[in-house]
Amino acid sequence: MAVIDLMPRPPALKVRGLVAGYGGEPVLQGVSLRLQAGELLAVLGGNGAGKSTLLKVLLGLLPPQSGQVSVFGLAPSVDPVAARAMLAYVPENVAVYPHLDGLENLHYLLGLAGRRPDEAAIALALREVDLPEAAWRQRAARYSKGMRQKLLIALALLREAPLLLLDEPASGLDPEATDQLAALLSRLRDAGRAILMVSHDLEATSAIADRYVFLAKGRVLREGSDLAALGADAAALRTLYARRADLAP
Ligand SMILES: Nc1ncnc2c1ncn2[C@@H]1O[C@H](COP(=O)(O)OP(=O)(O)OP(=O)(O)O)[C@@H](O)[C@H]1O
Ligand SMILES: [Mg+2]
Repeated sequence: MAVIDLMPRPPALKVRGLVAGYGGEPVLQGVSLRLQAGELLAVLGGNGAGKSTLLKVLLGLLPPQSGQVSVFGLAPSVDPVAARAMLAYVPENVAVYPHLDGLENLHYLLGLAGRRPDEAAIALALREVDLPEAAWRQRAARYSKGMRQKLLIALALLREAPLLLLDEPASGLDPEATDQLAALLSRLRDAGRAILMVSHDLEATSAIADRYVFLAKGRVLREGSDLAALGADAAALRTLYARRADLAP
C-alpha cells in the first residue's frame, strides 16, 4: 500500500516582510516571496534594486533588520550551517580552481563540504549537467563560463542541495550555452528542485523562469508568471527599471 505523506513540508523559501541593508540603512524594504520545490523563480530588477542583497540574506551573510526568512524551515541568520546545507549558490563570476581539472575540483570542493562521493556518482552528476566527458580531465582554466556553471551545478547535485540560488546565470553566455542552461535548469526543476535566479536581463530570463518577482527600490513591484507580458510592456518596464534603489522617491 502506498504511504501517503500528510506531513506539511515547509516551502523551499519563505520570505515575509524582509527589511535588510547596510549600516542600519534598509535596502530591502518589506520583501515577501515564496518558492516551492519544483519551481523556478526569477528575481528581476535593475541595478541597485536589491537582488544581490536578497541573496546575501538567504546565504546568512546579512542579518534581517526585521521580517522572516526561512530556507526549508531554517532561518539562515540563526542557523547558517544547517540552512546553507540545504542550498547551493552559483555566483555571477563562477569561480572554480583553475589549476585543477573538473574531477579534481569536484573532489576538492566536496571534501570541503565533508563529502566523499565515489567516481560513479561524480560521473553521473557530470552527465546529468551535460559537461562533455573530454573536459573532465581538463584544467578548469580552460573552461568557459557555461562549463564552470555546469561544474558548480554538478557539485550542487552531489551535495544533494534541494535549493539552487544563481546570480545572473545567463550573463556572459552565448545563445547555445544559454539554451543549455535553460534546458538543465528545467530538468532540475522538473526533478523537484527549487531554483531561484537573480537577473536584470528579462529577455534571457523569460526563456528559463516560470515565475517572477520584480524588485524596484527594495520592494516587490510586480510578480506573476507571464514573463512575456512583462517583457512586451517595454515602456512600462523602462519606468520600472528606472526606479533604482539609490535614487530618491
Ligand atoms: N556592502 C554594501 N554596503 C553599503 N551599501 C551597499 C552594499 N552592497 C550594496 N549596497 C547598496 O545596496 C543597494 C542594492 O544593491 P544590490 O547589490 O543588492 O543591487 P542589485 O539589485 O544586485 O544590483 P545589480 O544589478 O547592479 O547587481 C545599492 O544601492 C547598493 O549601493
Ligand atoms: Mg547584484
